[in-house]
Amino acid sequence: MNNKKPFLILGIETACDDTAAAIVADGHQTLSNIIWTQNDVHKRFEGIVPELAARRHMEVMNYVVAEAISSAGVSLNDINAVGVNCKHGLLRSIIIGVSAAKALAFSLSIPLIGIHHIEGHIYSNIIGNPNIEFPHLCLTVAGGHTLLINVINHGQYQLLGSTLDDGAGEAFDKVAKYLGLGFPGGRIIDELSVKGNPDAIKFPRPMLDKKNNYDFSFSGLKTAVKNEIHKTISSGKELNIPDLAASFQQAVVDVLVNKTINAARETGVKAITLAGGVAANRKLRNDLTEAGYNDGLKVYYPSLPLCTDNGAMVASLSYYKLKRGITSSFDLDARASSPLSDEGLVKIAI
Ligand code: KG4
Ligand code: ZN
Repeated sequence: MNNKKPFLILGIETACDDTAAAIVADGHQTLSNIIWTQNDVHKRFEGIVPELAARRHMEVMNYVVAEAISSAGVSLNDINAVGVNCKHGLLRSIIIGVSAAKALAFSLSIPLIGIHHIEGHIYSNIIGNPNIEFPHLCLTVAGGHTLLINVINHGQYQLLGSTLDDGAGEAFDKVAKYLGLGFPGGRIIDELSVKGNPDAIKFPRPMLDKKNNYDFSFSGLKTAVKNEIHKTISSGKELNIPDLAASFQQAVVDVLVNKTINAARETGVKAITLAGGVAANRKLRNDLTEAGYNDGLKVYYPSLPLCTDNGAMVASLSYYKLKRGITSSFDLDARASSPLSDEGLVKIAI
């Protein structure tokens, strides 16, 4: 890699319903981060329709890449490598991103780096903090996944726990759906909760009583909310939606924060990072920062555009992979799911 000129990586991310591309210099300086959200397409279905997501990626991909390049103030020929999420997400969506990345890398004769989406989320904090301390714990909370990862170094991980059923984001989305609040529900519940009382309804804190167990489970909590709604309506009472939203949110946050702080104590790490779409949640950010502070831990969380799916995290991870000599060939495959163990994320007990 050239020491004088910044090393520019174009990162492309199409795991789900966001078409995203970014230019990152030297693995940590975000020059542009363009995200074309498809909420308008999927809102009326109260969930993501895979076929529609892929078609929209195909329609807008060239515009998103062109915008990432022009708003970074660079030209296509300045790009030194292309990184792309090729594992984890909706298959048809990923195929569009991988095809675009291959075409660009091939035509520019530059390296192609395929990455795993979840490993990408870990880099949404490393990107802004290139001198972040290792090891640190990364709580990755998104729609389909909730993972607690010990990040030992670049490319070296231990998976401490994961969800046994729904991801935390999925629980937010389903609860919002029960309450008729729209999709995606996380941000709506976050906003409504500000007006509600988090102690109004005592929802369960699943798996919190299990010592030295860092797995999560949110499906029981989701059912408890459903039952509460049913009970209130059938008894003729009015549903206090902000109270319900705030109480549900507090239950999720308590579980995530407690498990993470306990794992930090057990592993002896000095820093925690928060990643994934649910990392945008204000209560989670506040409570984790406060609990971390009380335990002498540094807590990092990404800026909002780096919480949800984005190309910058892909470009940052690709840079560190390339530094270790890891590239992909042009027969790079696209996969809807891929074992985390392939990325060195092996589950261990602590
Ligand atoms: O990382 P992401 O964009 O996609 C996946 O990889 O799944 O995360 C999307 C998830 C959705 O479930 C959405 O409801 C949730 O992140 N989310 C939030 C907030 N913003 C987005 N959940 C709670 N509070 C928020 N402010
Ligand atoms: Zn994601």
